[in-house]
Amino acid sequence: MYTSPLFLPHPHSPTQITSTAFPNFKIKFNLNPTSSSSSSSSSCSSSSSSSSSKICLCGRRPFLATISTALIPVHQSNASDSLSDDPMAVLNRVHPPRPDWYEEFYAAAMDASMKSYEAEIAGYKSQLFANLPGKAANILEIGIGTGPNLKYYSNAASGAMVVGVDPNRKMEKYAKAAAQASGLCPTKFKFIHAVAEALPVSDASMDAVVGTLVLCSVKDVNKTLQEIKRVLKPGGIYIFVEHVAAKDGTFLKVIQRVLDPLQQAVADGCHLTRETRDSISAAGFSSTDIKQVFLSSASLINPHAYGIAYK
Ligand SMILES: C[S@@+](CC[C@H](N)C(=O)[O-])C[C@H]1O[C@@H](n2cnc3c(N)ncnc32)[C@H](O)[C@@H]1O
Repeated sequence: MYTSPLFLPHPHSPTQITSTAFPNFKIKFNLNPTSSSSSSSSSCSSSSSSSSSKICLCGRRPFLATISTALIPVHQSNASDSLSDDPMAVLNRVHPPRPDWYEEFYAAAMDASMKSYEAEIAGYKSQLFANLPGKAANILEIGIGTGPNLKYYSNAASGAMVVGVDPNRKMEKYAKAAAQASGLCPTKFKFIHAVAEALPVSDASMDAVVGTLVLCSVKDVNKTLQEIKRVLKPGGIYIFVEHVAAKDGTFLKVIQRVLDPLQQAVADGCHLTRETRDSISAAGFSSTDIKQVFLSSASLINPHAYGIAYK
């Protein structure tokens, strides 16, 4: 059940977590998924055994890692950038560093508490991610978190280079583990510590941008949407799943209004009443295809808008 954000403590106002709020949650502060014996190399080699076109050379040709990483169009900060557009400066301004324990707690909570939500949204995500471009593609995911979407990339975009951006450093090991488990070659995945309001990649460099449950948390929705448009190539796609405000006049909307300040305070800035669907529609994409669904696993964090915007 997607209940965790409402009950996650803000680093500066710790909240007691009860077993009712986190029925499936067990804190694993020393968890190190990347050191587990799960199928890192075998996931690369299993791809290669299933199809010669999916051969991954990362194990045999380590230098390819260096080359492919160098090919990611990562934007390096330089002195000529204005301060407001410098990714590090914007990161520190819109998402100042949280204490280590909080980042670890939030990452572990997200990893442990989203199983039933992910199961319910799986069919919708499968349809959406089937639109990802394949082999030579560059894909950027904003607010990648623990990487629940990475498993969809291995089917639809097995040869793609994937960049995941998140301001929470502790998400990195979960995202990398998810990438390995999903069969993405380690050389094809890069985690970058940054925010979506200042993406550290070049203009028109991405074939697709993905964001799920992120626009609720960013500081500036419109700036984020402009950044998505900036980094997409012409014809590139933005795939999203976002929870949005309930309809005016409904009981759910009343509850969301009442709980919104609490949610923002305790859930790392997550808003319950954002009209994100309208923001995406008005962002200036050449076209959008947006649908809406209520998910029983998400309780008052409903409805969800999901779809594709085309640059
Ligand atoms: C509710 S989690 C969703 C994570 C993941 N996308 C998923 O679907 O499970 C929100 C994520 O957005 C990240 N986040 C918060 N503020 C952000 C910002 N300004 N830019 C990018 N990501 C942000 C958080 O660190 C967190 O990983």
